[in-house]
Amino acid sequence: MQRNTPFDFTLQNAQGESCVAQAWAKVQPGLDASERFALKQQIKEALRERDAVLIAHYYVDGDLQDLALETGGVVADSLEMARFGRNHTAKTLIVAGVRFMGETAKILSPEKTVLMPDLDATCSLDLGCPADEFSAFCDAYPDRTVVVYANTSAAVKARADWMVTSSCALEIVQHLKDKGEKILWAPDRHLGRYIQEQTGADMVLWQGDCIVHNEFKSEELAMLRRAHPNARVLVHPESPAGVAAQADLVGSTSALLRAVVEGDATTYIVATDKGLFHRMRQLAPGKQVIEAPTAGESATCKSCAQCPWMAMNGLQGVLRCLHQGAGEIHVTAQIQKQAHQCIDRMLDFTQQRPGALRPGLVPHLGAA
Ligand code: 13P
Ligand code: SF4
Repeated sequence: MQRNTPFDFTLQNAQGESCVAQAWAKVQPGLDASERFALKQQIKEALRERDAVLIAHYYVDGDLQDLALETGGVVADSLEMARFGRNHTAKTLIVAGVRFMGETAKILSPEKTVLMPDLDATCSLDLGCPADEFSAFCDAYPDRTVVVYANTSAAVKARADWMVTSSCALEIVQHLKDKGEKILWAPDRHLGRYIQEQTGADMVLWQGDCIVHNEFKSEELAMLRRAHPNARVLVHPESPAGVAAQADLVGSTSALLRAVVEGDATTYIVATDKGLFHRMRQLAPGKQVIEAPTAGESATCKSCAQCPWMAMNGLQGVLRCLHQGAGEIHVTAQIQKQAHQCIDRMLDFTQQRPGALRPGLVPHLGAA
């Protein structure tokens, strides 16, 4: 049986004022090997029957990642998930990730049915940036180009000029800066600050954060590095400044994965959701990957390097989508039309650059 566990977390608005919010972590039932095998077989059959394809993020359960790859789907970062879903010919997209990923898939492919294992799977960045407050923030800066992170609702994207993900944010802001544009950025303050530092762009930042990455601790990381002096430190840019400052590489989930697979070190300390370790261990079996430190042993769900919302995705939820059509994503025609533009801009931009689909936030190990 799935267990529902409440947890509190802090949300910050554009001005950095905080409020405490509560959500439910739904802990997936423990399944034995034969139950998992049986569920996977049923899902494989149902995917074929329904003309459906499974699109999984690197943070979801390892079984779902494997299943996506075994059935012609994909396991990817949020940029590649969006592109894969748009380009695939299947009638139904099963998106195993969080809500904004399903909405992006639907916006790009309104003619397809988009289903998600659990519609409660959201994201603290999305929750912390309500469309009406965001709209007022934009109204206060009418002369700025509005750039939003993918981790936002469709309604927020409808107000944006550009959508970016962590794998192309730096290049796109650099491009806008080179054209003389001033930027309004939302909602992740750490990624926004990182881009501002790297590009020198004129940016006003919304003050949101990711409750998972915000928990990585810089002092404890410094101690862990001393214990592993030859380790490379890989950091997702949603992490705090003191953590990113110690990184050999700051990058998207794909960039971090590639750094482990292609890097010449044998040990890596990784500051991101530990779901990514599944693929790292599969593709680089001889290498050691160590979790970057969070709040410690009495960690709550939000401080254990595992996104409580990504963790809502399970085999049973995927089967419910396929058998019952559960978890359907709907986006109104008006929002779809408005939000499409900013996503298309990003997809066009990343196609034109050399080495399309290769993550770009790789200042230390060389951009692809
Ligand atoms: P990526 O775009 O790097 O996959 O990140 C998505 C995300 O939600 C990170 O927390
Ligand atoms: Fe959102 Fe953070 Fe979860 Fe990514 S890890 S989906 S940014 S809460």
